[in-house]
Amino acid sequence: MADARIAILFSGRGSNLQALIDAVSQSDFPAEVVLAISNRPKAPGLEIASKSGVPQSVIDHKDFQSREDFDAALDEVLHMAKVDYVCLAGFMRMLTPGFVNDWRGKLVNIHPSLLPAFKGLHVHERMIDSGVKIAGCTVHFVSAEVDAGPIIGQAAVPVLPSDSAETLAARILEQEHKLYPACLRLLAESKARLSGGSVPFDSSVIATGEISNPPTEKT
Ligand code: GRF
Repeated sequence: MADARIAILFSGRGSNLQALIDAVSQSDFPAEVVLAISNRPKAPGLEIASKSGVPQSVIDHKDFQSREDFDAALDEVLHMAKVDYVCLAGFMRMLTPGFVNDWRGKLVNIHPSLLPAFKGLHVHERMIDSGVKIAGCTVHFVSAEVDAGPIIGQAAVPVLPSDSAETLAARILEQEHKLYPACLRLLAESKARLSGGSVPFDSSVIATGEISNPPTEKT
């Protein structure tokens, strides 16, 4: 079977972009990153794409009158590149229901919480403030409702008494960089798929992380 053709959409730093590019570059990974797209011309992640030799495209949302126009341009670029799967990796732009529907089952996102808990923004601060003891990250299919689509995989980490939002974010990010490539592999191998609004449990679930009891600080 031909390698799955992947596009990665990002808006900022691009550490998940890097993790996906690195994973896919391994010879046994059944996918290739054919395009990295940023909606921000100054996104630091563009440098990562350049250094990795991945074709990149900037589609600046400020150049478009409406979300529909922006998404139409995005859709065209993705089709021109014959993309099979689209990975959102810190893509800070709401996609229209039409776009999400057109790419249903092909569009995935990573979110730094154990969904369905802590959807939305400022997740790490909110987790610390809430007093939860377990945090983590989720890779899921994208649906029209933000951070609510069917879950492909999750990784858990402890929340430590000494944590700030920054230290917790760093611990979760370490897991994101493992979980996202693992989930992408499942997609590329057609082992994870959307079926009737959910991801069949047997073929797809990834549950991983570094939870221990009692939680221990890393030295
Ligand atoms: C990650 O924490 C990801 O879960 C969230 O946005 C952040 C992007 O970070 N959706 P990076 O740009 O991949 O470093």
